[in-house]
Amino acid sequence: MHHILFVCLGNICRSPMAEAIAQQVIDDHGWQAQFSVESVATSPEEEGNHPHPGALKAMRHHGLDASAHRSRPITAADFDWADTIITMDHANVANLQRMAPSAADAAKVKLCLDILPGRQGQAIDDPWYTHKFELTYQELAAAVPAWLEALK
Ligand code: 4NP
Repeated sequence: MHHILFVCLGNICRSPMAEAIAQQVIDDHGWQAQFSVESVATSPEEEGNHPHPGALKAMRHHGLDASAHRSRPITAADFDWADTIITMDHANVANLQRMAPSAADAAKVKLCLDILPGRQGQAIDDPWYTHKFELTYQELAAAVPAWLEALK
């Protein structure tokens, strides 16, 4: 069982979208015994909040329902649980590497778009600021299945 933890700043936009997309791919392929996915925040700012309405709308448009999700900040137990930590931008990477309880945990941290040829080193920009929720969905819908293929 491979545990994938998706992480962004608030856990109300990008990482819950990534988790919902990953869960759909897992369910579509019958990979429930191979993968478990979860999402958390680097910041406690949005703790307890549901996904952003723009994120929920973009997900609904693509047949995903993440309305039951609630934001929570990452814990030491999450670092330990995760085999791979997939994160969205360079600030997320820096924060997680600083917060990681061990070097082994820090080494789990990956930038999401690094899996896509031609997109290495690029960020999935925060739709909380850009309001481009459909672009966020499209970037995640390209990268997240590629991660699952690579990790399975
Ligand atoms: P996310 O978006 O990191 O994709 O969930 C954000 C949500 C909230 C805030 C920033 C980004 N915020 O500053 O509260």
